[in-house]
Amino acid sequence: MSVSHWESYYRAGGLATCPTGPDGSYDQEVRQAWEAFFEPLPDGAALLDVGTGNGAIPLIARELATRLHRSWEIHGTDLAPIDPARDVRDGRRRFAGIVFHGGVATETLPFADASFDAVSGQYALEYMALEPALTELQRVLRPGGRMQFILHHVDSVLVANARESLGHAELVLRDTRVYQQLRRLLAAERESPAAAETAAAAMNGAAARLHAAMKQAGSPLILHVTLDALTQLWDLRRTLSAADVASEIEKVESELQASVQRLEALAGHALSADDVTAMMQRFSALGFTGLQREPQVHAGSNLVGWRIAGTKPAVTADHD
Ligand SMILES: C[S@@+](CC[C@H](N)C(=O)[O-])C[C@H]1O[C@@H](n2cnc3c(N)ncnc32)[C@H](O)[C@@H]1O
Repeated sequence: MSVSHWESYYRAGGLATCPTGPDGSYDQEVRQAWEAFFEPLPDGAALLDVGTGNGAIPLIARELATRLHRSWEIHGTDLAPIDPARDVRDGRRRFAGIVFHGGVATETLPFADASFDAVSGQYALEYMALEPALTELQRVLRPGGRMQFILHHVDSVLVANARESLGHAELVLRDTRVYQQLRRLLAAERESPAAAETAAAAMNGAAARLHAAMKQAGSPLILHVTLDALTQLWDLRRTLSAADVASEIEKVESELQASVQRLEALAGHALSADDVTAMMQRFSALGFTGLQREPQVHAGSNLVGWRIAGTKPAVTADHD
């Protein structure tokens, strides 16, 4: 499975993939849910966060351990070739002591049986092949170890925003083909004033449609980014060669395509109540007990996911 659409996001330095806080991390109730999960862990505990991305959840654990004067061994794994210490601002200091493992599928974890006291994941498990991933998580947890996952919810604000953003991407890439219009305009400028005038009219028409859509949008990020990029790319022709401007346009367009892949994945992997019930049944079949599920909210009433939790019993019962 290609994860280049995640890799480009992490390389650009984003800490969390669906940040709730102004600092680009998870805050308020989401952070509290993670702190409540990690808080009972004793000094010397080992934690694993799967599908960790740029390490937003390990960072919450590390900051909590510091506050509690405890030392935890914290690992983060991801199928993408992550390097949060390099990619996140001030990463070497912030992630000091956390061990990240890029290129690691949860379905085949490189850890011995019973290595961890807790496993976690935020918007992660629902992207994985469920049965082999759960089997591995059960294997690497110690008897008595606990798991918690926050998962995408079909009715969450994130899914609604993702669907709206996908509509905006469609407007940019297919309906207006605005980057194609920009390429035409740049070529026409070098051709003749008349060709430039025609191309400019087409380009302005496309940009006007994006502006109009932005005014009505609840979640206008893609349109904002596109309109800013168009202005910057247009200005670049004064300082860069035509070939270099063309390659900058290519980069911006392919980053938008990567965002489309991430948004489609988010909407496509969001779970209904029945999906979560089926997932919980799999945990139960693997012997997990104390299973809980709750809607996860943020800022009082914004639904941002499901939260599920459970424990691997101290003595594991036979499972099917
Ligand atoms: C939505 S992102 C969440 C990242 C991070 N937990 C966060 O909240 O910012 C989902 C992550 O799952 C990773 N992923 C998808 N399938 C995976 C698998 N089979 N094993 C490990 N990681 C996987 C992706 O590479 C991506 O980084």
